[in-house]
Amino acid sequence: MADKSSSAGAAGSWLPETLLVHGGTLRSAFGETSEAMFLTQSFVYDTAEQAEARFKDEDPGFIYSRFSNPTVAMFEERMRLLEGAEAARATATGMAAVTSALLSFLKAGDHIVAARAMFGSCLYVAQELCPRFGIQCTLVDGRDTAAWRQAVRPNTRAFFFETPANPTLDLVDIAAVSEIAHAAGALVIVDNVFATPLLQKPLKLGADIVVYSATKHIDGQGRCLGGVVLCSEKFLKDHLHTFLRQTGPALSPFNAWVMLKGLETLPLRVRAQCETAAKIADHLAGQKGIARVLFCGRPDYPQAALAGRQMTGSGTLVTFEVEGGKAAAFRFLNALKLIRISNNLGDAKSLITHPATTTHQRLKPEARAELGISDGMLRLSVGLEASGDLVADIDRALSASRIG
Ligand SMILES: Cc1ncc(COP(=O)(O)O)c(C=O)c1O
Repeated sequence: MADKSSSAGAAGSWLPETLLVHGGTLRSAFGETSEAMFLTQSFVYDTAEQAEARFKDEDPGFIYSRFSNPTVAMFEERMRLLEGAEAARATATGMAAVTSALLSFLKAGDHIVAARAMFGSCLYVAQELCPRFGIQCTLVDGRDTAAWRQAVRPNTRAFFFETPANPTLDLVDIAAVSEIAHAAGALVIVDNVFATPLLQKPLKLGADIVVYSATKHIDGQGRCLGGVVLCSEKFLKDHLHTFLRQTGPALSPFNAWVMLKGLETLPLRVRAQCETAAKIADHLAGQKGIARVLFCGRPDYPQAALAGRQMTGSGTLVTFEVEGGKAAAFRFLNALKLIRISNNLGDAKSLITHPATTTHQRLKPEARAELGISDGMLRLSVGLEASGDLVADIDRALSASRIG
């Protein structure tokens, strides 16, 4: 059996930087330094009695990697410690985490309230998939706390939102909205991808469940897909555990190993990316041809006070609008030489996307307008390159966007 000593006991007092290097380590009998990658589908038993005991949950060993796996368990434990949650379960993707968090406990006849400003696939799950199974959904302007209260019905079971939201960086007041949800007997599920586990702690602010696409900052180097659900022991036992085991959105051990390596450098990367993002946001704000800059760390950010209250950093994304609509935005993108056009985010490489034609192209123009997603809007995920090189690339693109 693996030695868990490196994470036992002491982990409770470690600061995030330490936790992210050592937390959750399950060392095998070989005493390896780096976490071992257990690429195995199943596990063998010494005796038939042991197999029986494992299936009865009387023996704590592993059974089958759809249920659990030592490398995946290390990733889950490290995330659990970082988030300060009672339980963590990894999933194959961020969308598997979102879908499992919702569908593991909702049933036909239930109602959920969700923020309108969300990543397109999250919106699909809330607005289109849930209703197909008899779970009604009301979408609200997440920034408007009163709208959450007004949307509550007797059968409301969950509030679901992303904050900051993709791509406008709209914020939801987690503490205020959680109070409303709890008074109505509903659970609060927060997609904390944009804030990262370092810059915002939804559970401390009153939320019940946090989900991540580990594909983003947690991997941080654009390699693997992954996700994780953080919740209470009770939610795990009553709902999530069986749902994940029987439906099978399991994280591969290889991807879990990559995520573990990603977590080791997460604080260094996020800190550097936030610093560069702030420099770029300030630079853009002073430029001719830029209609608007949205960055949680700027004093002119519409929800700056809330950002200061519930986040401990500005985030690594800068959203801005070039004058001249889609044509100017496309000229900007096509003139970039260093920043790459991609809809991914949280990578070491700076990536930029035009939400209206990519992540949010499924929405009707009126729905995009309601969300404040204009044809000139661009979302930049700031990477680890030198800020001067990024600014030079942006300046070149901005000149190109103005011609035409
Ligand atoms: C806010 C947010 N939530 C969830 C997801 C889904 O993550 P994944 O692509 O790992 O399924 C994304 C992906 O872009 C996202 O930006």
